[in-house]
Amino acid sequence: MINVNQLEIWYEKNKRDLPFRENKNPYFIWVSEIMLQQTQVETVIPYFNKFIKKYPTIKSLSQTDEDTLFSVIQGLGYYRRFKNMLKAAKTVHSEYKDEFPSTYQEIRKLAGIGEYTAGAIMSIAYNKPFAATDGNVIRVIARTYDIKDDMRIEKNKKQIKLINQQLIDAAIPKIYTQAIMELGALVCRPVNPACEDCPIHGTCKAYILNKQNELPYFSKKKNKKTIKYHVFLIEDDNSLYLRKRTERLLGGMYEFPQFEENEMIPFDYEVIEDKGTYKHVFTHLIWEMKVERIKLKSEPLTVWLKINKELIKDYPMATAHKKIIN
Ligand code: ADE
Repeated sequence: MINVNQLEIWYEKNKRDLPFRENKNPYFIWVSEIMLQQTQVETVIPYFNKFIKKYPTIKSLSQTDEDTLFSVIQGLGYYRRFKNMLKAAKTVHSEYKDEFPSTYQEIRKLAGIGEYTAGAIMSIAYNKPFAATDGNVIRVIARTYDIKDDMRIEKNKKQIKLINQQLIDAAIPKIYTQAIMELGALVCRPVNPACEDCPIHGTCKAYILNKQNELPYFSKKKNKKTIKYHVFLIEDDNSLYLRKRTERLLGGMYEFPQFEENEMIPFDYEVIEDKGTYKHVFTHLIWEMKVERIKLKSEPLTVWLKINKELIKDYPMATAHKKIIN
């Protein structure tokens, strides 16, 4: 019940000028879609431009190191996606001679590329009918077809993906994929959708039944867990100590030494200044960080790096800790 032709005409007339829409280079499409998956368009734009300037080709990306890459994208969050991106770029370099692969199966095998990203690249860059179903698409389809199921459940999402696939099979893939996302972003918005401006409201069940605001349905999430940390700005000469994270969360990013509330502190110290408490909210949990500037009274741990204060800005740091020194 979506007239894809009407949707495509609307898109051509109303689409935003975005830097990643200037060119169908699959590498650019890939980078933009990875960035856009967990981050809003307005935030992505300056990062995308900076990224492409620094790494204009997949070959240049494949030759960088993780610290340099992380300095370029620090602040965007969800850093594992860029760890995977670097791994995928190296695969494209070694297995595909720097030429981005062009079949769904090959693309899907690259690190960090799932069904959504492979569908977006295949359709936008190669104009092939592979569906890419993101949150915008779920909203547009759930409303148009009056699908009331809980979209937090995978099998219900599958139903939307199937409809999205049928729609793209009857469409111009490179236009359709972006058109339905753009409609979700600009018109079929989560709250206060602009239904009067919608090119397909005539066949939208939610519009006809006036239940736009009830769809899509997502069951409530569990409350986030709060972890309390003690964070130390350890002064030594004109330097501070940093540690490179190896945990799954924020792996590869640098941080000030921190210890969980009940953890034993493995050194003696003297407090110079109480910097107060900072909070950082992640998708699944919250860090509550009690921060102190201290002087060590025992030897520093060998796992720490002693970094001159002037140079700390060159290290990719998690926003959770970056905001402590800013
Ligand atoms: N969100 C994810 N990909 C997008 C795209 N290509 N255009 C607009 N919004 C998007």
